[in-house]
Amino acid sequence: MAAYIGSAISRIDGIAKVTGAAKYAAEFNVPGLLYGSVVTATIAKGRIVQIDSGAAMQAKGVIDVLTHKHRPQMADNDQAYKDEVAPDGSPFRPLYDDKIKFKGQPIALVVAETSEIARFAASLVRVKYEQEGHLTDVFSRRDAAIPIKPPANSADALFGPPKTRGNPEQALAASAVRQEGEYYVPIEHHNPMELYAATAIYESDGKLTVYDKTQGVQNVQRYLCGALGLRPEDVRVMSPFMGGGFGSGLRPQYEVVLAALAALALKRSVRVVLTRPQMYGLGYRPAMIQNVALGVNASGILDAITHDAITVTSRYEDFYRQETGWSGLLYKSANAKYTHKLAHLDLATSCDMRAPSAATGVYALESAMDELAVALDLDPVELRLRCYSDRDQHTDHPYSSKALRECYRQGAAKFGWAERNPEPRSMRDGTDLVGWGMATGIWEALQAPISVRIALTANGHAEVACATSDIGTGTYTIMAQVAGDMLGLPLDNISIKIGDSSLPQSPVEGGSWIATSVANGIATTADAIRDELLRLAKRIPNSPLANAAPDDVALVHGKLTSKHDALRFVSIADAMRQGGVDRIEQEKTSEPAQDHTRAHNTHSAVFSEVKVDEQLGVIRVTRVVSAVAAGRILNTKTATSQILGGVVWGIGMALHEETLIDHRFGRIMNANIAEYHVPANADVHDIKVIFVEEPDDSNRLGIKGLGEIGIVGVAAAIANAIYHATGKRVRDLPITLDKLRR
Ligand code: MOS
Repeated sequence: MAAYIGSAISRIDGIAKVTGAAKYAAEFNVPGLLYGSVVTATIAKGRIVQIDSGAAMQAKGVIDVLTHKHRPQMADNDQAYKDEVAPDGSPFRPLYDDKIKFKGQPIALVVAETSEIARFAASLVRVKYEQEGHLTDVFSRRDAAIPIKPPANSADALFGPPKTRGNPEQALAASAVRQEGEYYVPIEHHNPMELYAATAIYESDGKLTVYDKTQGVQNVQRYLCGALGLRPEDVRVMSPFMGGGFGSGLRPQYEVVLAALAALALKRSVRVVLTRPQMYGLGYRPAMIQNVALGVNASGILDAITHDAITVTSRYEDFYRQETGWSGLLYKSANAKYTHKLAHLDLATSCDMRAPSAATGVYALESAMDELAVALDLDPVELRLRCYSDRDQHTDHPYSSKALRECYRQGAAKFGWAERNPEPRSMRDGTDLVGWGMATGIWEALQAPISVRIALTANGHAEVACATSDIGTGTYTIMAQVAGDMLGLPLDNISIKIGDSSLPQSPVEGGSWIATSVANGIATTADAIRDELLRLAKRIPNSPLANAAPDDVALVHGKLTSKHDALRFVSIADAMRQGGVDRIEQEKTSEPAQDHTRAHNTHSAVFSEVKVDEQLGVIRVTRVVSAVAAGRILNTKTATSQILGGVVWGIGMALHEETLIDHRFGRIMNANIAEYHVPANADVHDIKVIFVEEPDDSNRLGIKGLGEIGIVGVAAAIANAIYHATGKRVRDLPITLDKLRR
């Protein structure tokens, strides 16, 4: 039955992507298209006293310069600008008024006949500011950071610090061995390859068709309606392909407002493409100062955990996730306390970035666990097995499944962990010190309501439609696989339509929830197709399926076939002919089972080898083994790619990535991918991915989603390996060679 699900199918959109046939937001062309170039604020805080567009308007080919003083009507209340994943606060409104909230804020859009003219003319816009004092350094706001209240219903809350358990202060004070440390992760930026862009096509009837780079077309469509006072039928948002989002496209970004605003103002089609430096004025992974304390009692049992975090957000919105509390999902401890404070800075609002809060929070936790293992003279894997938790410590619920023990076992075996000499600086390869480290990863396994429409034609072709997106993760492909199996059709007979706000409802693609949601959505709608075919098949005189109930039949090889007797079947074509139709269409919404009695998570065990040049301190991550438990794997090829990408990003987080701000000016100094370092091919060596068996019955297909688990734990595994290689514990990322020599 499951011919496609679980197999290593190549991406069905792969050829379109490598041949350039797949179009991105800035590649949809219409005659008479205009080009917008964004002017950004050069101060971090204050107000605009005057914008002089005179010289820009003089440039030949310039059509208009939009500013807060010269633009179409926009909504004047916060609610209108709240998108479906907006945090609490007052959302940023581009070109709204004279206030400057962060450096790099868009303050004008120059629209011209070519992008070159627009960009040149943007340089001619003169702005006078009234400056106010600004703060962009998290350490300068450390004492002014505001505590986040634990959510009222802590048991099921996704965000915010979990409730205290037991008496952690007392348990810590009484502990036989205590490990405390402060860890720091700087601001990081997503840096997807595709620049943020929107092409707003002004249709002859005055409606807008907008191609935008986004992870949620319906979120953007509703946002544009709110901000610009449009009716839903007046704007359609499309995003068939996305060149990487990683969370930066969960919320609508300002390029789409500017493109739509200009199109409405000029009644022309307008494209806005941000520059690479301008993309640093969008969201970012919040910098995080963390203090973790672990206490072990006289029997050698983990007995107390405290995790305090300070993260960064803007002055106008409170963005946070569940940065603390991952320990409660991973490890048994009777006493625990989590606090989380927000430092409000004169920056854009921080946002989700792959495994938001886990990539950072688990880095600190898993570094602290490694330090504790050293203090206890215990193997790091052994320590984790000793406090392994079969129940979510926050809720005391069991897991729907948790094959983490198997991840440790298989990962360690593949890596050769048993050969490790625990002594730091004990392993060498020529002039290199060799270090082996490990860490655990954890992420959520969520499912969201989603609607899927399937249209099946008599010739055995199915079109599967949903407004979800493929942000590069392989959604097109897994959707086709699931539909192929559920409808009993070859992959070539399936077409997938996504990334269009006019299609059936989907949440934004994020949180690793789309694979689970859309796959189960397809299964639900495929059932409805089957039921309809059965209804028609029964009407055939002497129908071989006359007495069959829906559950007795399945679609196999283009035929509705009895599960009990393969000789009893009716072909799709015959059933439709009987009904006098050549097409069956069904649209169903699938709701996740509200299973609040169990915890739903994915897990991983990450093992890393580093080689550190003893003289120079140069670090190379020479081997990584990531063993992942993520339920049923839909496609071993695309799933492996997801984990490989996560591991590569973890290497970047550990060794390279850091957004550097000159706090005197509130200015990001390395707003380009020459100076913002990410791993290059030469930084990536041997990475092995293992998926361990993990049957799970939380949803019909047993899927958990794995777009994010791959990065979690990697930075800690590398940091721990560096300690093992050098005997030097670096607690602030990235671990650069100067820190090793300090
Ligand atoms: Mo993901 S950070 O939810 O796109």
